[in-house]
Amino acid sequence: MVDPVPQLEDLELKDGTRVLVRADFNVPLRDGVIEDDLRITAALPTIKYLRSYGAEIVLCSHLGRPKGKVDPKLSLLPVAVRLSELLGQQVGLAPDVGGYLSTGMIESLQPGDIMMLENLRFEPGEEANDPAFATNLSGLADVYVDDAFGAAHRAHASIVGPPVVLPSAAGRLLAREVEVLGGLLDAPKHPFVAILGGVKVSDKLGVIDALLERCDRILIGGAMAFTFLAARGARVGDSLVQDDQVDHCRKLLESGRIEIPTDVVAAADMTADAQTRHVRADAIPDGLKGFDIGPETAGTYADIISGAATVLWNGPMGVFELEPFAAGTHTVAQAVADCRGFTVIGGGDSASAVRHFGLADRIDHVSTGGGASLEFIELGDLPGLQALRKGSRK
Ligand code: 3PG
Ligand code: MG
Repeated sequence: MVDPVPQLEDLELKDGTRVLVRADFNVPLRDGVIEDDLRITAALPTIKYLRSYGAEIVLCSHLGRPKGKVDPKLSLLPVAVRLSELLGQQVGLAPDVGGYLSTGMIESLQPGDIMMLENLRFEPGEEANDPAFATNLSGLADVYVDDAFGAAHRAHASIVGPPVVLPSAAGRLLAREVEVLGGLLDAPKHPFVAILGGVKVSDKLGVIDALLERCDRILIGGAMAFTFLAARGARVGDSLVQDDQVDHCRKLLESGRIEIPTDVVAAADMTADAQTRHVRADAIPDGLKGFDIGPETAGTYADIISGAATVLWNGPMGVFELEPFAAGTHTVAQAVADCRGFTVIGGGDSASAVRHFGLADRIDHVSTGGGASLEFIELGDLPGLQALRKGSRK
């Protein structure tokens, strides 16, 4: 069982209670335009709950990786603008992170007002978990709410600092993510099928071990499939193989519950106008690399998915952003959408994939955390959750 964390209902809120809310507004931006606002819409229930109690809300988040320096391209301004539109209420952006400008704005808040601090990672103290920076942040409010599931695997100042000194709780989004992903760990309905893709098998070893304890089948795609194929003695041409992981993959295959591709879509290069060849997965010609699972594999995977009572998907099956290598991921996405079982997408690229194919609405839970959901599945806990629990015991 995942240990419970304090919830919004556990907080004593009244008119004018000042609440620091850590959100994960790390949204994809292109030329200052938000490409996908899922992480903003997902934070609305918590913000509206706090507003309904007359709280004075101070939002904070990181955006990108500015590494402790101010980078105007990574300002949270587009997020504050989008949030103002969604809430129908002005969300002012402070020009700094807890300096005298934001302190002045905070002092002038009225019950129900909402403002946002600038990008936390403009300050070196955030990622370094500097105690002075954490104390400064905690001093801005009476109460702390963590709704940043996507960053809950980072022991950064804004995540682990405030619960040490402030009454704290998980927001709605964080609580829902823990409920859904925790449910997959505690009591998944069987057959439980996991689908894993992505580039490096070394990033997924812990997750595979955790899933082998719970899943009936694990379907492998993405570049990491070639290390499994190599472990089975296949000729993989020039496909990406992690040589130092081949022995480990061979041991994993002995479980008998890991499915690997039988055919692939290969090409010389990963380009949008690549000449592709459909080849057997164990006989990829030299000079070619596999960039997608083939139609036979995709069909096999779709059949297995259709019979599942629980599905967890993390990592695309191929380079779905490029048309010649999109079909495998599309077939799998369609199968997950059509599945009558409970379906969960573990954030990151697979979440982008289901949105790319217009299927996100047909998935039961699309996680807002890529790295966070993988770490949670692997370890059953996260630094952000541990901090909230410790805080509630003070
Ligand atoms: C994410 O997008 O995965 C989270 O916001 C965490 O960002 P990070 O990987 O830069 O810490
Ligand atoms: Mg379903």
